[in-house]
Formats: sequence, structure tokens, C-alpha cells
Amino acid sequence: MHIKPYRASALLVPSPKRITDTEGTFILHRGTTLSCEPQFKVIASFAREIFSCETEGDDIKILLERDLQEEAYRLSITSESIVLRASTNTGAFRALSTLRKLDLLTTHELPCCEIEDAPDYGWRGFMIDCSRHYLSIEFLKKLIDTASLFHLNRFHWHLTDDQGWRIPLEGWDRLEKIAAHRRQLQYTDGRTYGIMYTKEEILDLQAYAHQRHILIIPEIETPGHVSSLLAAYPEFGCTAGPYEVQDRWGIFDEVLCCGNDAVLDFLRDAIKQIAALFSDPYIHIGGDECPHTAWEHCPKCQQRMLEAGLSEERQLQSWMTSQICQMVHQEGKRPIGWDEVLEGTEKLGLPPDLIVMSWRGSEGGIQASKRGHQVIMSPNTEGCYFDYKHTDSKEEMGNLGVSTLTQVASFSPVSDSLDEQAKKKILGAQANLWTEQVTSSRQAEYLLFPRLFLLSQQLWNTLDDAKGLEKLPILYQMCEKLGLLCYKGPAT
Ligand code: ACM
Ligand code: ZN
Repeated sequence: MHIKPYRASALLVPSPKRITDTEGTFILHRGTTLSCEPQFKVIASFAREIFSCETEGDDIKILLERDLQEEAYRLSITSESIVLRASTNTGAFRALSTLRKLDLLTTHELPCCEIEDAPDYGWRGFMIDCSRHYLSIEFLKKLIDTASLFHLNRFHWHLTDDQGWRIPLEGWDRLEKIAAHRRQLQYTDGRTYGIMYTKEEILDLQAYAHQRHILIIPEIETPGHVSSLLAAYPEFGCTAGPYEVQDRWGIFDEVLCCGNDAVLDFLRDAIKQIAALFSDPYIHIGGDECPHTAWEHCPKCQQRMLEAGLSEERQLQSWMTSQICQMVHQEGKRPIGWDEVLEGTEKLGLPPDLIVMSWRGSEGGIQASKRGHQVIMSPNTEGCYFDYKHTDSKEEMGNLGVSTLTQVASFSPVSDSLDEQAKKKILGAQANLWTEQVTSSRQAEYLLFPRLFLLSQQLWNTLDDAKGLEKLPILYQMCEKLGLLCYKGPAT
């Protein structure tokens, strides 16, 4: 009897909703043929490219099955043929990713199986901070391609912060001349640079992500974390500076002046340009860690508070959030903000369509969902901060805290304290990689993997009791195949 070298069910992360291992293997080779129904032409050409199978024919077929949900798919592998079924291109792409993972892990000897699959959560994301340290487009492509193999579907691109501004805006030349310039006065890696992504690079990366059915969410920080912007345009601050692009991490008192109409004009134009560049529906407007000290001492901010009938500076932040949300709406996009946007809202409330990203634990997300907002969970207390160490050891790289593999593999975006109505508001979750102390892509890889794979499991098909850890050897193998560094130490 032929002994199967592998079982598909043992190889797949995230594990599919339903999978039956069957006898035999399908050998994928240069002569393998492929055909599709007309709506799947683009996916078929992507499949031909990755599997190097040029010929038209029925070994692999991509077929329409109308009653499947958007990201759902069915995949059948027998020793004679492979059939992928989906109702949309996204579903067909997810099927193809599953096939591609099996191909990578088995060196083209695909174990036969029957799969029916669909995700638990619609938002399955990862954020990369490219302000603190610039990461190359080539590396971001490698990450996006890898993420797509694991059915992740949101890349949140943190493009501006105190330490650097990385998105070009026409008519604002000092962003490139000043705000993009890293300063390196302290004893770190000694590198200085002033790099922004170009529009061409951004569009190229976006097309690359879309080909893999991943949306991009650009973030510009407001009204705090803006030292680099203020260094370029000191008139946007409350004191007119001078300000500096920061070369250390922290929370800085220099923030946008809420009383200056020129700041609003800048933000309106920035959001307009960002909305034109990025075609996906969301813009992240930041909102976190904004001290209010400068506003207390600024006559213009105080005047604004008077006009708006506000008694406390924290309400001024919610005034600013509402203004910026209006600008985002004006461009036909949906705003997302860090959970601090919930504060100081007694007076003015919040636009109901603002999506809240919960990072200081889950509490902000729980509050927001009860207030009717949609929520993305990324609690730093539950394993979603990947700049944190993998384990509590002096020998490990990482910043501020610990996010263990066990935490990630036990993570669920939905907490027991939520009622059914509030649960429906939780779109999903994401991992965040801040890069204050991540100076190179290789370090980023070590911090991201295998945690990002374990998170993909919890968002696609949530497992209890850290069951996902059982497949760690497969995840290490996957990193090997994809040329990714990864952490292989203790899970706790
Ligand atoms: C954050 O980690 N400051 C959102
Ligand atoms: Zn001010």
C-alpha cells in the first residue's frame, strides 16, 4: 500500500473549518494544466505563474459555486485532479493559497483531501510601523505575500510618527526635506536617512497587495505623534517651535494646534491626497497618546474651546477627531482611530461609523462595541503586540512587554463579557509591529514569525487551549521555505 508522506490536515495553518484526508497524492509539475471559468481569469493567471503551469487543460480547475460566502472556498485534491470552488475572486484566491501552502510544504506532492473553508473574522490584519524605521518595499512585498498565504487580509501601514514622515504629499515639500529625515544622535545603529516612499512605490505595493486580496490601510497620526511634521511646519504647533524630528521614542508634548485653521487645511489636503493614492475604503487617523499640555497654554486652542463650548482639553481632542473624520468622509472613506478616540467625548460624541482599534487591552474595544462602534482588537495585553519579546528573557530582543506564543495561540478577539449585539461589532483583530527598536527587516521577521501565523489561525478558525502550538514544527518549516527568520524558543 502506498504510504502517504503527509496528511493535509496536519500541514495546514490556519486549519480549515472542515477537512477530510483521503488516499494518494497529486504531483504538481511543469506539465500540469489549468483552466477556469471566465470570472477567475486573473486568479488563474496568478496560479499559472506560481505553479509554472502554462498549458490550458483540466488538471486544475477553478469553478464558480454561487452559494459560497465571499471568502469561503472548497478545495478537492485527488490523485487525478484538483478543483477549487468559490463565489468570488477573493474566495478563489484563498483556495489557491491553501493549495500553494501544500505545494510549498510537500515539494509538489500534494496530499489528497477534501476541504470546505470560511473565516471566523473579516478583519485579519497586521500593522507595520515604517516611520520609526523605514522598511523597504521589497520587504513589505515579502510580508504581504507571506501574509496572503495564511489568509490575512489587512495591511495597516503606519506611515507617520515623531521619528519620520514617509508619505509624499504634493505641495508640502518640507515633508521630504525635513520630516522624512531620521536623526541619529544617540548610540544606536548609527544610520541616518531621509527616505519617503514614492507614489510609484506605493501604487506598486498596493497593486501587489490587491493581487493577493489584501487591503491596505494607510495611517497618518493625528493630533499627537507629529514631531516630524512639526519640525517641517512649526506653525502647525501651539508654540511655533522650534521642533525636531525625534531620535528617541516616547510620548511628546508637541502636538497639532487645534486652534489654527492652517492645521485643518493641511489635514484636509493630506487626507484628500491619501484618499486619492490609496483605493481601499479605510484611512487610519491615529489618535493615540496625545498629551494635552500644549493646548492648555495655547490661546488659539483655548479660543477654539470657547467657540465650541468645551470645558476641558480632553474634549478638544474629540473635537479634532470629529473634524478629521469629516474630512475622511468627505473623501468617501471610513475612519479608524486608536482607542483614545473614545475619551473626552461626553460633549460632542463621535461619528458613529468611526472604527475603534483597541490597543490598551480589550477594554476600549468592549466600550466602543457597547457604544455601537465597529471594533478591531489589537490588545497589547493579550499577545497582539509583536514588538514585545517572545518570552520574558534578557536574552530576547523586543520592547516594553512580552507576547508569548501561547498567548497568541489562545487569543480570541471576542471576550466573554460581551453580549451578542456587541460581539457582532468586533470585525476581527490584528498584530502590531512597532519599530522603535527594529532597525532591519531581519529583526522584523524574527519578531513577526511564527506569531503572525498563530494569529492567522485564531482569526480564521479560532482554536481553544493554544491548540495551534501543535503545528509549530510546520510553521518553522514554512519559514525555512519562505526564507524568513523566526523565533524557535519557549512558547511561554
Ligand atoms: C499604540 O501602541 N500607541 C497605538
Ligand atoms: Zn494650540
